Amino acid sequence: MSFPPGNTAWPGNPGQAGAPTNPGAAAGAELLSISRLVKRFGAVEALSGVNLEVPAGKVTALIGDNGAGKSTLIKTISGIWEPDSGQMHWEGETVRIRGPRDATALGIATVYQDLALCDNLDIVQNMFLGREPRQAGLLNETKMEREAKETLSELSVTTVRSIRQTVGSLSGGQRQAVAVARAVMQNARLVIMDEPTAALGVAQTAMVLELIATLRSRGIAVLLISHNLNDVFQVADRIAVLYLGRMAAAGPISDFDTQSAVLAITTGSPTGSPSEQSETA
Ligand SMILES: Nc1ncnc2c1ncn2[C@@H]1O[C@H](COP(=O)(O)OP(=O)(O)OP(=O)(O)O)[C@@H](O)[C@H]1O
Ligand SMILES: [Mg+2]
Repeated sequence: MSFPPGNTAWPGNPGQAGAPTNPGAAAGAELLSISRLVKRFGAVEALSGVNLEVPAGKVTALIGDNGAGKSTLIKTISGIWEPDSGQMHWEGETVRIRGPRDATALGIATVYQDLALCDNLDIVQNMFLGREPRQAGLLNETKMEREAKETLSELSVTTVRSIRQTVGSLSGGQRQAVAVARAVMQNARLVIMDEPTAALGVAQTAMVLELIATLRSRGIAVLLISHNLNDVFQVADRIAVLYLGRMAAAGPISDFDTQSAVLAITTGSPTGSPSEQSETA
């Protein structure tokens, strides 16, 4: 399915539940591949030659202790930091992401912990911020409302009372949902989430995990940073463990259990599939 430029509507027929947004990218196909990424901050080497595979239509959990380099890695993918060296491939093509615009143009959307939503604006205004459709010079409010509603319902976000509610009045989980819906409206192929459930209660966490599963069922890849292994084992297809700027272990979720994941996080000792370890060596 191709998206005409400027068309921010959720594509496809809402009746076809689970239809991938991009049938060209089969689940598991190569989407983002990173090799030997190095990022230094002065004398600190935050990333020391990191390899990472993020396949299409799968949830990859990025885990590791405080200071392991998780946020630095996703900020490099999102174009906030330029790496000192290393390569990034997007669907097999070498790419250089020099700024957030490059990342957005590829289809990478990042939902940061602070979310960067405007509390004083309503849901519709937040979802279209900076890309409002206009008609004869005026904001096309009807189109914005319709598309915002459609996207939220496609993502099965049903707890929001009114899309004209200010974002400041929403719960943490609902705010995450609005931020994710905004990413989806930008036709994201990869949604990166930094600790999306850290500040949430049980019900809201369940809602965000469901949202992640919905993104996957739509063919969108998710890179999820989380300290919560319950969340990780509930929703992830793959795990990548950073330890002091190195990829200590990576592989399908079936290669890990809580014990081996904790061991990799705390000692950097490799688990996961041997083929991926040799890549990360
Ligand atoms: N802007 C910066 N300037 C200097 N050093 C930085 C900067 N950002 C990160 N670092 C350093 O890089 C290393 C990795 O930090 P990073 O924030 O990526 O860790 P993290 O895995 O996200 O940790 P946490 O789980 O606590 O969020 C740390 O040693 C940190 O001090
Ligand atoms: Mg961090």
